[in-house]
Amino acid sequence: MLSLKEDVKLHWEKEVCGSRYGRQDFNESVDLETMACERYRLEPYISDFADFEAAKNKKILEIGTGGGVDFSCWLKAGAQATGIDLTEAAIELTKQRLDQQGFAEYAYRLTVGDAESLEFENESFDIVYSYGVLHHTPDTERAFGEACRVLKKGGVFKAMVYHVPSVTGWILWLRYCLFTGRFFKSPRWAIYRHLESQGTKSYTIPEMRLLLEKKGFVNVKLYTKLGFGDLLLNKPSKKYQSRFYSLIWKFYPRWLVKLFGDKYGLFLFVEANK
Ligand SMILES: C[S@@+](CC[C@H](N)C(=O)[O-])C[C@H]1O[C@@H](n2cnc3c(N)ncnc32)[C@H](O)[C@@H]1O
Repeated sequence: MLSLKEDVKLHWEKEVCGSRYGRQDFNESVDLETMACERYRLEPYISDFADFEAAKNKKILEIGTGGGVDFSCWLKAGAQATGIDLTEAAIELTKQRLDQQGFAEYAYRLTVGDAESLEFENESFDIVYSYGVLHHTPDTERAFGEACRVLKKGGVFKAMVYHVPSVTGWILWLRYCLFTGRFFKSPRWAIYRHLESQGTKSYTIPEMRLLLEKKGFVNVKLYTKLGFGDLLLNKPSKKYQSRFYSLIWKFYPRWLVKLFGDKYGLFLFVEANK
């Protein structure tokens, strides 16, 4: 039987995160430019959050590059960028993107690696950035500890992790708990079992604050945002391709969800210092 880590790896090897936005059909090859445009169309707030320009001449580590859309922005901004991802597929696609954009291999460092045991010296980076990654790894606490360890004193940590209570949690609860008779399971359980890779965690704001402070971060700033998944603006994955789901996507009351505001968004943004 696969360990949870192997299971997570297998999930993301099968389809590199975000690559579905770069193709019409699951069998087509990925158009990297379309994939990047779609990412920033669906998540226009990323560039403000990441603040790529501020990384000029700084040493930045991105944990979990996925298809490398943000990673290429660090390089464009003139950062000394290092990237890791658990899967070879992600590293391969990121390299392809950088090749296409004309970055020489000596301009960056990119390698398969594990957030839970980073191969870098203590206090090596000015910025550590990880978008939508750390909740997927089995030992998330350890991964936050590693991020803090490799960050320089006074350095900047930025991450996005999943939040509860959130609209996505409630949608998954309806689908996988209410409609299947598991009334006593929670939205957090539904996220853990059914949102992307197995074992995906979600946090309340106080839980995340506690975790970050325990791992040594200071000046912690946390806020939530409705994500494109909360609004069902995402392109459905393979398991949601039937006519039934296309009707749900069509008639989903987005206007109502927007009325809730960002408080019940899935995305929990983390900014902190060491
Ligand atoms: C939702 S994708 C996010 C990718 C990218 N940051 C983005 O926003 O598109 C999650 C990524 O985290 C990576 N990942 C999961 N566990 C990891 C770990 N322990 N160490 C490094 N990367 C990991 C997966 O391989 C996958 O590429």
